[in-house]
Amino acid sequence: MTVQDVVWAIWLIGSALIAVAFLWIAAQAGKPAGDQAQRASVRKAHIMQAWAFGFLVLVTVAGSWATLHRFPIPAQQGPLDSQQVVDVVGRTWSWTLAPGTVKAGSEVEFRVTSADVNHGFGIYSPTGHIVAQTQAMPEYTNKLLYRFTEPGTYTIQCIEYCGLGHAPMNATLEVVAPEKG
Ligand code: CUA
Repeated sequence: MTVQDVVWAIWLIGSALIAVAFLWIAAQAGKPAGDQAQRASVRKAHIMQAWAFGFLVLVTVAGSWATLHRFPIPAQQGPLDSQQVVDVVGRTWSWTLAPGTVKAGSEVEFRVTSADVNHGFGIYSPTGHIVAQTQAMPEYTNKLLYRFTEPGTYTIQCIEYCGLGHAPMNATLEVVAPEKG
């Protein structure tokens, strides 16, 4: 099950619950109620509210854990002991990657920063799928760890709107087979 499937399932169940609650409220509307019955109904509503709240908290915690625990965000403090390091600087509207070639098969640490405004550092595979991303922020370095499995020419694309030259703000990263490097 992919993360998208999990989010989709949570969304479906959540929508169904909201629909059921709405139908229940609609069915209750217009029913005459005596004082006694009204008090009981308010009590019942409070109990249901507490259960609904508890359920929402549970869904939020479970959903956050399911979708966030696999995020490839390494510890940002201290060295990462990566054999390969690429220093990345984004600026309006280009990227500097040093070095511009890495080896597949072992982890690459990207140290990403910006010389001016916020940019989005997105790495796209030769087939056009995004494989990793992080923010390029001025006066801050974000570390990103990624292990390339397939050699090829990867594309770096800015994925945060940063002005007129945002769309063509791209670069290439060569990933070579381990034995070639
Ligand atoms: Cu840089 Cu968008």
